[in-house]
Amino acid sequence: MKNQIKILDKEFILFIEEEKIQNRVTQLAEQINNDYKDKVPTFLIVLKGALLFAADLLKRIKVRCKVELISAKSYGNEMESSGTVKLKHLESNFKNKDIIIIEDVIDTGLTMKTLLDDINKYEPNSIEVAAILTKPNAIKTDVNIKYVGFEIDNLFVVGYGLDYAEFGRELPDIYVLKV
Ligand code: PRP
Repeated sequence: MKNQIKILDKEFILFIEEEKIQNRVTQLAEQINNDYKDKVPTFLIVLKGALLFAADLLKRIKVRCKVELISAKSYGNEMESSGTVKLKHLESNFKNKDIIIIEDVIDTGLTMKTLLDDINKYEPNSIEVAAILTKPNAIKTDVNIKYVGFEIDNLFVVGYGLDYAEFGRELPDIYVLKV
């Protein structure tokens, strides 16, 4: 792990180390295993950002479960989320299912609000959200995130699935923009 990295024109510094992330993911998985011990949850992975978190979380899930994918893209410039969210479904049926949405970050909450409104139309039995990061100071919608990895300030971060101009998603640690 490096303390500082450069992606395109921007410098980033180490913010949350891999070991700390992995330990937190283990705790979240234990919580989910306990909460869903009598259920068969469907994990809905929100592409692309949630890929790494979803893979790490799923490896620790001990209850019988299913996995579905959806892509959500919020359009705007590269450093800020925007007002328009575009969802792309794969074929999936959420009726009467216990859904756990897996996201990388809840920023304004607009993507999650759009997604929840969409999935609710399929009449699932329940929906909860797991996000490795939330930004309480940036949130503009009232969405309830049951499984939160880390609450962070309103900072621009990359790594562990999160990108800057599509780069940096593969990093196992999370980095913050150097100011
Ligand atoms: C990011 C992130 C969330 C969303 C959060 O996705 O993965 O889905 O923005 O922002 P919000 O809470 O303000 O809506 P992005 O649209 O960048 O797509 P990506 O996952 O493919 O990077």
